[in-house]
Amino acid sequence: MTVNSIGVVGAGQMGNGIAHVMALAGYDVVLNDISKDALDRATDLIGRNMDRQVSREKITQDERDQAMGRIVTTQDLPHVAGTDLIIEAATEQETIKQKIFDSLLPHLAEHTILTSNTSSISITRLASRTDRPEKFMGFHFMNPVPVMQLVELIRGIATDKQTYETCLGVVEKLGKTAASAEDFPAFIVNRILMPMINEAVYTLYEGVGNVNSIDQSMKLGANHPMGPLELADFIGLDTCLAIMNVLHDGLADTKYRPCPLLTKYVEAGWLGRKTQRGFYDYRGDVPVPTR
Ligand code: CAA
Repeated sequence: MTVNSIGVVGAGQMGNGIAHVMALAGYDVVLNDISKDALDRATDLIGRNMDRQVSREKITQDERDQAMGRIVTTQDLPHVAGTDLIIEAATEQETIKQKIFDSLLPHLAEHTILTSNTSSISITRLASRTDRPEKFMGFHFMNPVPVMQLVELIRGIATDKQTYETCLGVVEKLGKTAASAEDFPAFIVNRILMPMINEAVYTLYEGVGNVNSIDQSMKLGANHPMGPLELADFIGLDTCLAIMNVLHDGLADTKYRPCPLLTKYVEAGWLGRKTQRGFYDYRGDVPVPTR
């Protein structure tokens, strides 16, 4: 199946990155969000991120302008329904995702492939509530989308070969690399990454180290580009907690117990960079550890 147009639902940090790379790869993009502000912020951010790519000579000014011209924004969800491939990139809450798919279903073109950028929720379960489980799969990007090379492709139990191959073709056109993951809680990347982040929070909670020493240890001692607490703030502490809960509930193993300190930060509304406070306070010129 040929894909020419992509619908992206959700204009947050993942959705705007997905729209960015899809438009640069030549796809017509319809970017949807319920909030006009979110759409305006996303368009502005995509423009600035592409400007940075122009100034670093990764893309030309002409490529940038053409890509920006391929992105249409809309608050009207059915507007997305006529595209060839839809990527849902809303908040990591199953009820919200389900509501989006429910609203899309009556308007979908027959051939449209539905995908979710979920980082942990069962693809089989999301698919089973639609009219096209064979045309449904997980299409999981990493943050920041324009920089990270990997896309996880997750087949639900009913996903057919043509759907998988079509999505694989899109990943290849983006110049990214696909990893196939089976549909088990949190797939591959987050099955491994989140317990490490959760363990870093336990290390903080138990006083083994402070925010600085933990992040510095993993940056300088394990060559990670970001420390685990800095990375947690970057991903969003609510997302990290949601993924730990999916692992804990889905695999029923106490080794996935979310750290109470992670829960407390989320309860405080300290969700990381997006709320300007998490394991670091971002309100000043330089991030300051909060513990
Ligand atoms: N758009 C476009 N380009 C961007 C960008 C963006 N949003 N953010 C950074 N870049 C580019 C920069 O322009 C720069 O490009 P050049 O190499 O051409 O100079 C490059 O990325 C590096 O950026 P910086 O120099 O500003 O900063 P850095 O060297 O500190 O790198 C980083 C930043 C790439 C984010 C790096 O710190 C990193 O790799 N961190 C780890 C990220 C990670 O682990 N992501 C996965 C999270 S898990 C996930 O996403 C899954 C999930 O479901 C939760």
